[in-house]
Amino acid sequence: VVDLLVSPHPAGGCVVTFDDVSAQVALAERHRLVVETARDALLITDRAGTVVYANPAAVALFGRGAALVGTRSADLIHPQQSGPLLARIAEQRLGGPLVYEFTAVRPDGTELELVASTAPLRELGEAGPASGVVASLRDVTDERRAARQLAEREKLAALGQLVGGVAHELNNPLAGVLAMSELLLAEPLLADPPDGDVVVDVATRRDLRDLAATVHQEARRAARTVSRLLDFARQHAPRRAPTDVNDAITAALALRRSSLQLAGVAVEAALGDALPPAWADAHELQQVFLNLITNAEHAMAGHAGPRRLLVRTGASADRAVVRAEVADTGPGLAPGEAARVFEPFYTTKPRGEGTGLGLAVSAGIVREHGGTMRVESAPGAGATFVVELPAAGPQNAEDAL
Ligand SMILES: Nc1ncnc2c1ncn2[C@@H]1O[C@H](COP(=O)(O)OP(=O)(O)OP(=O)(O)O)[C@@H](O)[C@H]1O
Ligand SMILES: [Mg+2]
Repeated sequence: VVDLLVSPHPAGGCVVTFDDVSAQVALAERHRLVVETARDALLITDRAGTVVYANPAAVALFGRGAALVGTRSADLIHPQQSGPLLARIAEQRLGGPLVYEFTAVRPDGTELELVASTAPLRELGEAGPASGVVASLRDVTDERRAARQLAEREKLAALGQLVGGVAHELNNPLAGVLAMSELLLAEPLLADPPDGDVVVDVATRRDLRDLAATVHQEARRAARTVSRLLDFARQHAPRRAPTDVNDAITAALALRRSSLQLAGVAVEAALGDALPPAWADAHELQQVFLNLITNAEHAMAGHAGPRRLLVRTGASADRAVVRAEVADTGPGLAPGEAARVFEPFYTTKPRGEGTGLGLAVSAGIVREHGGTMRVESAPGAGATFVVELPAAGPQNAEDAL
């Protein structure tokens, strides 16, 4: 490959210069290949911050097709970050290389977490502010999400340990208070005397009895909370066997029957027949449904309008997943609340009435079973909690050995 330069000669005619540039062309071709096949996304922006070059990895990453070239950088960055970030990029045209992390948005709204390694781009011999910036971008979305999940799990595990320790410590004294208050309640001295007693009159005896009864009642409430905390903190792996989800639901419904009746809730159960068994700990499953049913009942208790609890079960078409739904006609969840209800200690119930652990414990149980739990709700339209569990298959039989 040669460069040809033709210039007029003062004496007439012209001078032709041949310059062998094969080596440069080969080098440029090699650079092009490196850039185009790079796994990292590479972008070049001009003075105004408009993308003037994007390698194929960048085109794939941003989901804008060829229109990526010509897009302003500001349109690629999450609106919450674009102000300060663009200021930094502009500043960089005067300085050196920079590494930073930012969130980009695709036209469909998906967010990407990216690490950018950028450098000002100057033409040969150019001084002053660079004419552009070259950026190499690495997609760390999955990495960051996994790290966050791990941190969240570790936080929960630490919290579980702490809570478990405290609950354990509380358990013994509480058991003592319960037993003593029971003894006190049964104390003959506090019973109404057959005939008048001059030392302690009947009214005082009754007052003392009421006090003992209150101590007993409050201690029982505290014991319930402690037992919930211990559930939350429990570390043991579930003891699984092929379990009929319908049975677990029926048992949970039976436990709440009178209370549901009292709250004026009509129960409809549409339990699928020939349901594949779930690979589950029957007792824990029952606890999950008990929590969901109790929550629905509480949500509807103070709610005007029809009070219906609908429990439905079924299997996926391939019978690999057993699905159960607990739906109510209560007030539903406020926007944004759906994400919070599974957090431990999130409760909207008055002090002393809810621990906010019911759903955290239930979601934990379902997760340990390899299943999922989610809520579908619109304010005013009730809430539907959906539990999906893996069905027991031949592979579980081997696990069980
Ligand atoms: N079916 C439902 N309808 C409306 N809100 C609900 C429903 N189920 C749960 N919630 C909301 O989620 C919160 C958390 O529920 P969770 O079961 O974890 O705790 P809790 O019921 O408040 O207390 P606990 O179950 O420990 O006694 C509730 O306080 C309530 O605000
Ligand atoms: Mg609850």
